[in-house]
Amino acid sequence: MATKKKKLLVLTGGGDCPGLNAVIRGIAKRARQEKDWEVYGSIEGFNGVYSKPQEIIKLTRHITSGIHVKGGTILKTTNKANPIKFPVVQPDGSTKYIDRSDELIAKLKALKFDAIINIGGDGSQRISTVLHKKGMPMIGVPKTIDNDLSATDVTFGFQTAVQIATECFDKLVTTAESHHRVMIMEVMGRDAGWIALHTAIAGGAEVCLIPEIPYDISKILKRIEERYRKGRGFVNIVVAEGAKPKKGAAFSQAAEKGSEHVRLGGIAYQLSHQLKAAGCNHEIREAVLGHIQRGGVPLAYDRVIASLFGVKAFELALKGKFGRMVALRNNSITDVSFAEATRDYNFVNKNSFLVSAARGLGISFGD
Ligand code: F6P
Repeated sequence: MATKKKKLLVLTGGGDCPGLNAVIRGIAKRARQEKDWEVYGSIEGFNGVYSKPQEIIKLTRHITSGIHVKGGTILKTTNKANPIKFPVVQPDGSTKYIDRSDELIAKLKALKFDAIINIGGDGSQRISTVLHKKGMPMIGVPKTIDNDLSATDVTFGFQTAVQIATECFDKLVTTAESHHRVMIMEVMGRDAGWIALHTAIAGGAEVCLIPEIPYDISKILKRIEERYRKGRGFVNIVVAEGAKPKKGAAFSQAAEKGSEHVRLGGIAYQLSHQLKAAGCNHEIREAVLGHIQRGGVPLAYDRVIASLFGVKAFELALKGKFGRMVALRNNSITDVSFAEATRDYNFVNKNSFLVSAARGLGISFGD
């Protein structure tokens, strides 16, 4: 007699990130070794469950084969399907946020899923926490290029973002040098300076500005002048999108309709204005990397971490260990409670060796 198969649902939420597909493949491959499990994917986060008709696909061998090499997510993603604060556009054009979590739970129960793996950042882990408290069999996998989740030593996607940013930085160095210019390169990272700091060290920047160390424009100017003799010289600056001056706030744009987050980005231009206003008379050029950092093929390192996370996440489902997020800690793959996963934001510690070593390399933080 055929045994009833157990059903697992995978989804990706929030911004995409190199390595998501390697997690999906890791889950699917490991699950295939257990004869009584079937793996499904919800298209575009929880929207696949909400939509009529529902968009839930079976993750067959054919679908997941070879996807670990591909950037993005084969399941698509969105940051506008938070079941607890679901954006609904009103007739007057404004957006109202409503709690659709009970509706979601009813739909998931009707679909009879035995486990749900939500691959996402901070926001997704918080959503999973609420759903788990309401009785859903949730498991989390941490993703983000920002590396801002404190319960894991590293998130997959981060190394790829740093590699991309460093390659761009290297290109900007040669042109800055040829023109005796100050080149400002802006990287992502939200409220954490991990991408900026790693890129500055890898690329050999003169100045690195991160949210954790507010800057003083006169200190940056001083560092710039040290690099010029008789009008000749060049400076390469890495600025994190969330960096802020000592007096003032981070440079942000209004939140996009339906999105809970303000959009960061554009500080490179702001900094350029501030430098000119403070008396910098060298030529300045700005480069905002933006989503280039999130695109393309994941590095081998991120593929490895993501694959291990996928296997581990499935094994948590197999053991019925719900309410847990997989994590990398002290070189081993483990799992932590959702409470721990969402407790602290992972800021760069300004007193860490990473920061003092950067200073030792002559990098100024503008402080
Ligand atoms: O969290 C990842 C991230 O790329 C941040 O570094 C950045 O601020 C944000 O997402 C951009 O979001 P979006 O893709 O919605 O513009």
